[in-house]
Amino acid sequence: MSPVRLALLAPGRPGSPPPPARRTRQHSPPRSHWPPLAYPCPPRLPRRPLCAPRLYGPAAMPLRPLRSLARGLRGAAGPGPGVLLSTPIFYANAPPHIGHLYSALLADALHRHRRLRGAAPGRLSTGTDEHGLKIQQAAVAAGVSPPQLCAQVSGLFRQALTQAAVSFTDFIRTSEPRHQRAVQHFWAALQDRGALYKGSYEGWYCTPEECFLPESQLADSRDTQGRMCKVSLETGHQPRDSWCMWGCSDSLPDEVLGTDWPRNSSAEKALEVLVHWTKEENYMFRLSEFQEPLQKWLQDNPRVISPVPFYQQVLHWLEEDLPDLSVSRERSRLQWGIPVPSDPTQTIYVWVDALVNYLSVVGYPETHSEWWPAAHHVVGKDILKFHAVYWPALLMAAGLAPPERICVHSHWTVHGQKMSKSLGNVIDPVSCFGKYTVDGFRYFLLRQGVPERDCDYYDEKVVKLVNSELADALGGLLNRSTALSINPSNTYPCFSESCFPKISDYDGTQALSRASSEDYELVASVASLPLQVASHFEGFQIYKALECIALCVRETNGFFQRHKPWKLDRKDPAEKLWLDTIIHITLECLRVYGTLLQPVIPNIADKLLSRLSVEPEERSLLNLTFLPRYNGKPCPFEGRQLGPDTGILFHRLEKSRQSQMENKRL
Ligand code: MSP
Repeated sequence: MSPVRLALLAPGRPGSPPPPARRTRQHSPPRSHWPPLAYPCPPRLPRRPLCAPRLYGPAAMPLRPLRSLARGLRGAAGPGPGVLLSTPIFYANAPPHIGHLYSALLADALHRHRRLRGAAPGRLSTGTDEHGLKIQQAAVAAGVSPPQLCAQVSGLFRQALTQAAVSFTDFIRTSEPRHQRAVQHFWAALQDRGALYKGSYEGWYCTPEECFLPESQLADSRDTQGRMCKVSLETGHQPRDSWCMWGCSDSLPDEVLGTDWPRNSSAEKALEVLVHWTKEENYMFRLSEFQEPLQKWLQDNPRVISPVPFYQQVLHWLEEDLPDLSVSRERSRLQWGIPVPSDPTQTIYVWVDALVNYLSVVGYPETHSEWWPAAHHVVGKDILKFHAVYWPALLMAAGLAPPERICVHSHWTVHGQKMSKSLGNVIDPVSCFGKYTVDGFRYFLLRQGVPERDCDYYDEKVVKLVNSELADALGGLLNRSTALSINPSNTYPCFSESCFPKISDYDGTQALSRASSEDYELVASVASLPLQVASHFEGFQIYKALECIALCVRETNGFFQRHKPWKLDRKDPAEKLWLDTIIHITLECLRVYGTLLQPVIPNIADKLLSRLSVEPEERSLLNLTFLPRYNGKPCPFEGRQLGPDTGILFHRLEKSRQSQMENKRL
């Protein structure tokens, strides 16, 4: 069983047995006043298909003619109208860690890939989630006001994402007036359509997750001082870590806390109440009414949630009881939030507030229809229910369509354990950029992260992967194929059809042909690579796209090694033809890899493409015609002077001292 999460008893009730878990009004009251709701799903425009483009077939298939990649890629997904890609908005109670960065990098890579495919300009939104009890309490613990804490932490996120080259077009803070206006308008739409009612509600409220937990997700236990407490069976983090990565004000970093803000230990004590029994009058959302519409939405759109296991998980949730949702808190308990319009005694539930950020960034309530519902949300598995159940239901209730797509990823652990302050294993992305470079670290997270399952992080893994695939395989190939010793003119050499005849013309008797069947396989693999990569991006399997590229890079190294161009004599005309052809093919392969890697390692890809003298306007996937000379077409690169930067593409990383010592100990 996963480690349990402690939840302490509510204040004012020390030692008392927990009240019977009971919720009142889980299901909507009679609907005499309830206007008939037409859960609207506006007719979907004939947009790009969600499904992956059809592939030519696996790379190792028998040889097939090279085809126009541009045609294939255009047919696959684009150009189509622009899409709003979003990251979750990050809680402004703790600085970024690599889990947050992973969510953002996935969205960034998808966004960049779409752009390269010539899709209509899209948007990428990110930002910070600044309201709610958890932030209010973290600010108390830090001895600062919530706006002060949020401004500081939001700044850290913006900085880290900018440094990570996340190409966001909008960074939203839920404390901004534009967002507050959108939330209040959204609330009014829910109310006008009869989706809300006022009711009395009681249950266990979990501050770290900002939601009520059913009794089935809690177990009885005792805290460190022997008091009765509740433990959560689901998430498995230590509670302190989940509400605040810094744990307590003593360990808040100075850049957030400043040096003269008071440390408030009694406030910290109050913060220990992580799950508390709550009984209040508040507004309820008729979620139970949406069970069938949600099921229908999912059945009609089987690709809306990917990967598939998460889609199935949501269907499973929808087979269970779906109680109404409490969507406000008494203002006396929660001041740090957006007030309910026309009822200042209530604050809007932080998850409703947060989810509406996706509408705020597209100008709701005025201009959102230019974008909505073409929204693709990237989210971690822990917040799937909020995005795949509550959010679509809220949207339907407000008269809007559910998002077009939800891409779900799993979590990063560190040395097999959850990241937590108490274990001291929280990984700061900014320090990783220093150790591994921005592109090195981006490559690692996207190459190793598998959305379907949790992935484990340790420093040595980064060094090994990045050294072998970026420094040795890719960098080494560029270095060897552009060395002045084999290419003294430093130009993009010519391809010779006689040395490398087209497979359909080849009958095995051509005297000058030097190509082997493995060489033809390489050419076929690289020719089909852009479509394969596009298909994996479209299917939210970026790691698989990178795996395919890495495999081709290895095959290309094999090709180069097999033919040993350094042994060929440039003075012999026949050998020169073959030597140039080997280099030409290798540079063509590298050009494809550089182009395809742009969404993941933009800086390295830029360096690689510049070295190959590929101009910025020649870097789109639509212009990517691999080895045109093989198909009898002209190659614009032949004879071009190579770029001037002959430096190493990616410097090998040193093993950190710490991991060397850890290795010795093992
Ligand atoms: N504020 C909410 C999201 C509101 S979106 C309308 C929230 N914030 S969060 O800061 O806790 O998490 C943001 C993202 O980081 C989520 O996608 C979450 O899954 C992800 N991660 C948090 N820890 C993670 C790992 N250890 N590994 C990978 N991603 C993880 O939830």
